[in-house]
Amino acid sequence: MRFLVRLLGGIWLATLVVSAGFAYLEVREERERQIENLKRRATLVGAAVAEASERLVTRGARTGYERVLTRFGTPERGLAIYDAFGGVLGATADVRPFLGPLSPLVSDAIRSNEPVAGFQNVAGRLTWVHVVPVQQDERAAGAAAVLLDAQYLDSGEWDLWRRTAVRMGVLMLLVTGITWALVRWSVTRPIARIAEWTKQMKAGRPVAPPPDADESLFGSLASEVTGLARTLARARSAAEQEARLRLAGESVWTEERLKQFVEMRFGRRPVFVVSNREPVSHVRDGRVVREQEPASGLVTALGPIMQACGGVWVAHGSGNADREVGERIGLPSADPAYTLRRVWLSDEEEAGYYYGFANEGLWPLCHIVHERPRFRAADWGHYRAVNERFAKALLQEMEAVEAPIVLVQDYHFALLPRLVKEARPDARVALFWHIPWPNFEAVGICPWQSDILLGMLGADLVGFHTQFYCNNFLETVERAIEGRIEWDRFTVVRGQHTTHVRPFPISVAPDLGAAARPADRAAALAAFGVTGEFIGVGVERVDYTKGLPERIRALRRFFERWPEYRRRLTFIQIASPSRSRIARYQAVQEETREMVRALNADLGERGWQPIVYRERHHDRREIYGFYRLADFCMVTSLHDGMNLVAKEFVAARDDDDGVLILSRFAGASHELPDALLVNPYDVEDVASTIHRAVGLPVEERRDRMSHMRRQVREHNIYGWAGLLLDELARIPRVTDRRVA
Ligand code: F6P
Repeated sequence: MRFLVRLLGGIWLATLVVSAGFAYLEVREERERQIENLKRRATLVGAAVAEASERLVTRGARTGYERVLTRFGTPERGLAIYDAFGGVLGATADVRPFLGPLSPLVSDAIRSNEPVAGFQNVAGRLTWVHVVPVQQDERAAGAAAVLLDAQYLDSGEWDLWRRTAVRMGVLMLLVTGITWALVRWSVTRPIARIAEWTKQMKAGRPVAPPPDADESLFGSLASEVTGLARTLARARSAAEQEARLRLAGESVWTEERLKQFVEMRFGRRPVFVVSNREPVSHVRDGRVVREQEPASGLVTALGPIMQACGGVWVAHGSGNADREVGERIGLPSADPAYTLRRVWLSDEEEAGYYYGFANEGLWPLCHIVHERPRFRAADWGHYRAVNERFAKALLQEMEAVEAPIVLVQDYHFALLPRLVKEARPDARVALFWHIPWPNFEAVGICPWQSDILLGMLGADLVGFHTQFYCNNFLETVERAIEGRIEWDRFTVVRGQHTTHVRPFPISVAPDLGAAARPADRAAALAAFGVTGEFIGVGVERVDYTKGLPERIRALRRFFERWPEYRRRLTFIQIASPSRSRIARYQAVQEETREMVRALNADLGERGWQPIVYRERHHDRREIYGFYRLADFCMVTSLHDGMNLVAKEFVAARDDDDGVLILSRFAGASHELPDALLVNPYDVEDVASTIHRAVGLPVEERRDRMSHMRRQVREHNIYGWAGLLLDELARIPRVTDRRVA
């Protein structure tokens, strides 16, 4: 209330000063204009009266003035004619009794032989008096006075002030009303709602911020409160989880445990992560810049680790608004736990290093999907240069840190471990390869095989998802370069340096149930225009390794073989466009769209489509919502290092329901045998597995899901990081910080 009074006080004062100031200027201007008008009229009439009475005055006539006075006098205009001594020769009747006070003006005009004018009070009224000498031989022989009533000047002014006062009153009333309403709607009410919201958050109920809070007014307040609430919620849930685990005597990895573990093993040293993909991109959307979390398993996995451990994440700044936001930023923005250091690349570098060598060369090289890898010398040049650029940025970031822990991610940075180790032998470097490692014959076609292997072997620890990939890698090293392989210890020894090669099956945060708010199934489906008893879901980057066309073929076959499921089952496919500058990706995108279109056209009926295809970026929460409402999830990769969609689906199902149909060629299939495993190339197999999934008895569904959930919980992302860091910590430290 006091705020409102102060605000209104300010507005009133401003209104008063402005209105009064303008009214004053208006009054002055009007008065000057009226006086000018009076002067002009008096001068004209004065000159005419002087001229008309000139002959009479110079002759010294005592009569004859009546004619002049009648001709020029009017009720508002008094006239008087004087002789050379100021004696009245004639005057209009209305002014005759009041001529006394005019004498000084008349004498002045006669003496100076010049017109004299001014305001006089005549008969109690304001009067403009203009006295003109009547001349004879250029000497004043008398004078003529014109008296114009100017009383209306004063009353006009008062009128204007009165009008101004009324205007001001009305304006103030209006402003008061509008301000009061605005403050109530835009400030008081939203603040009350924010307060209520904060209370709910404090109580641990994760509710969305009120919708009517004006972004520009409350945006930062809302995000600060959200950040605080999240921190509280995380701390609370970590404590609860720890307590639960202690009671159950379990030793599952949690965020808190990982934090403590890192502190115990490495002291308060920050962790340095390098990856091509950044955890958050900034994207311009009209006039606003939005944060966008990319569709990437790597980001899904590493995000929680960085939140737990803190440190610096070096990545390619690829969002179109990244440069506006900054090179070094704290993340998550609502409650920063670590720093993102962005590395900028030119279009040409990105084309050569990322699209070219990494994704047209190494990606198809490592996946058995019958796509021919393309190796171009120019791309290789960019790949090397970009690895050097990232190494430089990383070295800068860890300049002040003794024996830093470095986690290099993926096939984009095969050369980085060696570059870093050469500059900082005290650093403990791990490289995790997120995609499969094929057999040595496949790798042998890469013209720069040795450089890649030597680059990777710069690391102290090289990790793959499975033991099988570790074996393939060691075999490749054995055949391609000089070095001693110790098969019993899974190490490669070259000179003084030893590289340990180990499997670390990557995973997700154990319980996404809380993040995946149970969707209101009916409402969510209605939003998609979907009705139906059964819902299947698929979540992929549009990549030819993911087996999207194969899946659609299988769905078609399913509906053909079991037509009773038409209108009863809808498959929702979430497809994130990916690497779309590469022709092969454009082709698979086109092919998928066309297959969906054809299937919907052939089998779809009024009010029902077999497949709802959503090709755009979806944020994590939206995706978790779909996981929650699906009866089954399909992962039909033709070849996949791990596949975290499978694990995310499981982690989101804290209702212990839902069926996972999983490709046996995805790394995840080794850990999740309770999924319904399929060969994605076998259309009949996949179609009948869909049929099995929708008909699976509820007890079996629950059994399978709870086994898978146990697996994901016990082998979660914190465990992945914990084991990897533990392995790294066991590697003897080099104390010499730099070698020549
Ligand atoms: O699977 C390999 C990988 O780098 C993942 O780590 C990540 O999920 C995916 O590819 C993302 O690809 P990109 O970063 O090229 O969009």
